[in-house]
Amino acid sequence: MRGAAEGEPSESQKSSRADTPGQDEAQPKASRADTTVNRRIGRILISRDEIAARVTELGEAIGRDYAGRAPVLVGVLKGAVVFTADLLRAIRVPAAMDFMAVSSYGSGTRSSGVVRLTSDLSLSIEGRDVIIVEDVVDSGRTISYLRRNLATRHPRSLALCGLLDKVSRREVDVDVDYVGFVIPDEFVVGYGLDYDGRHRELPDLAVLDPIAPA
Ligand code: IMP
Ligand code: MG
Repeated sequence: MRGAAEGEPSESQKSSRADTPGQDEAQPKASRADTTVNRRIGRILISRDEIAARVTELGEAIGRDYAGRAPVLVGVLKGAVVFTADLLRAIRVPAAMDFMAVSSYGSGTRSSGVVRLTSDLSLSIEGRDVIIVEDVVDSGRTISYLRRNLATRHPRSLALCGLLDKVSRREVDVDVDYVGFVIPDEFVVGYGLDYDGRHRELPDLAVLDPIAPA
């Protein structure tokens, strides 16, 4: 791998949105599946500027490695949509784009461990250079499943680009060829990443903090 950047925020980035009025009412209720406490948006872990700079670097690295070829970026829906779109524009080689959807999380913050394909590619990847683009590699189960699934379709090559890598949470061994940021075991939202379908629209990556029940 080509040098993952650290995901720790600087002091200046630790702005908090936690005091935003009206934030609390919209949070999932305490009785939800794995949530014994509510959660709300906390400090910014990785700012939009840091994301943009790193995406540019990843695009340059991929462009160099795939010079003279036309890779297919396979974005994993829905979390990786924003990242995939930015990465596509940072790669200086002709690249195709397609998407797959899998489900592994319920509405909580921990994987169920069971991965299911819920939407398939529209392109054939036989003989193509495929780069899976994922938002977070956590336990590794989703990516391990996707790699095995796509390998059966006989691509010419198969690589993985993950925006975030929670190395400390790995349960299944997977090779991440291009890593945006290695981050600690914290649940993050924004830049396409969600918690229960929410917060994808935030331009920065922020930590989701528990709120102690009142
Ligand atoms: P894995 O199968 O355990 O590696 O989980 C990977 C999937 O979990 C990713 O595709 C994400 O959808 C989701 N995920 C893991 N951590 C986070 C997080 O911090 N924020 C949002 N989604 C996450
Ligand atoms: Mg995902």
